[in-house]
Amino acid sequence: MENRKAMVIGAGQMGAGIAQVLASASYNVVLYDLDTQALQRGINKIETSLKKAVQKEKIKEDEMNETLARIQDTTSLSNGDDADIVIEAIVENLEVKKEVFKKLDQIVKKEAILASNTSALSITELGAVTKRPEKVIGMHFMNPVPVMKLVEVIRGLSTSEETYQEIKRITESLGKVPVLVEDFPGFVSNRILMPMINEAIYTLYEGIASKEAIDEVMKLGMNHPMGPLQLADFIGLDTCLFIMEVLHEGFGDDKYRPCPLLKQYVKGGYLGYKVKRGFYEYE
Ligand code: NAI
Repeated sequence: MENRKAMVIGAGQMGAGIAQVLASASYNVVLYDLDTQALQRGINKIETSLKKAVQKEKIKEDEMNETLARIQDTTSLSNGDDADIVIEAIVENLEVKKEVFKKLDQIVKKEAILASNTSALSITELGAVTKRPEKVIGMHFMNPVPVMKLVEVIRGLSTSEETYQEIKRITESLGKVPVLVEDFPGFVSNRILMPMINEAIYTLYEGIASKEAIDEVMKLGMNHPMGPLQLADFIGLDTCLFIMEVLHEGFGDDKYRPCPLLKQYVKGGYLGYKVKRGFYEYE
């Protein structure tokens, strides 16, 4: 994979992690964000994560420096026009993502694959706004990206077998495991996970138990490493709400109705760990 170039769009929680694993696997990475402060936070996050890996003797200091040197941060999309693969990880909003895919389609070389890290939105719809729908695919990394092994690979209606095979190869080159799923709301991961999180929020909303009790039941009783409310904080409550809305709209079934308490938290800016405040408070 030496000398291959990747562009990551969005330097938030997921984008920074994706840039890190690509650079660690010897890709030259262009990390793009609209917001210079977000970009700097993303780079800082990557540095902190790699420094921890050095402290834990998982990588050598030289490797850390080489990895960091392979990442170029930018606020100009044209710096990635020669990328072989683009992975988009911006806000979970279909209209905003469509605008970005339209621009990428015009700017990035025509052989490049355009992947989205969307949690639940339609890959088919993103592909349809480009002139290369056969090269548009979902590459759904899990949070935290450097740690989690799974990449859910989502094939849109027009995604070619060649594109899928290439993404499978790239995913494996990052030390991750690709699992192929078809393009329906929430795919597999969030179609199962999010209704569980939403139900945990309803359980809190209806006063059945405290947040700590709900999380404790799921941790000790179901052997989950983290309770659903804490997990929601780590995912981001805005992202959780977006996904529930996509499921609700996509399937039209009341069982996917987002809990009013989730809506209220998002309106109040309680977005979870990234703002240090969600169901829990963080230092
Ligand atoms: P985030 O809010 O941490 O980061 C999003 C970044 O995108 C921000 O830095 C923002 O400045 C930037 N951005 C927004 N609009 C932009 C645009 N038009 N052009 C360039 N940059 C733009 O969000 P997060 O959590 O990293 O999520 C990103 C994507 O990854 C979403 O689609 C989400 O559904 C998906 N995802 C999130 C997971 C999670 O646990 N948070 C897990 C798996 C997927």
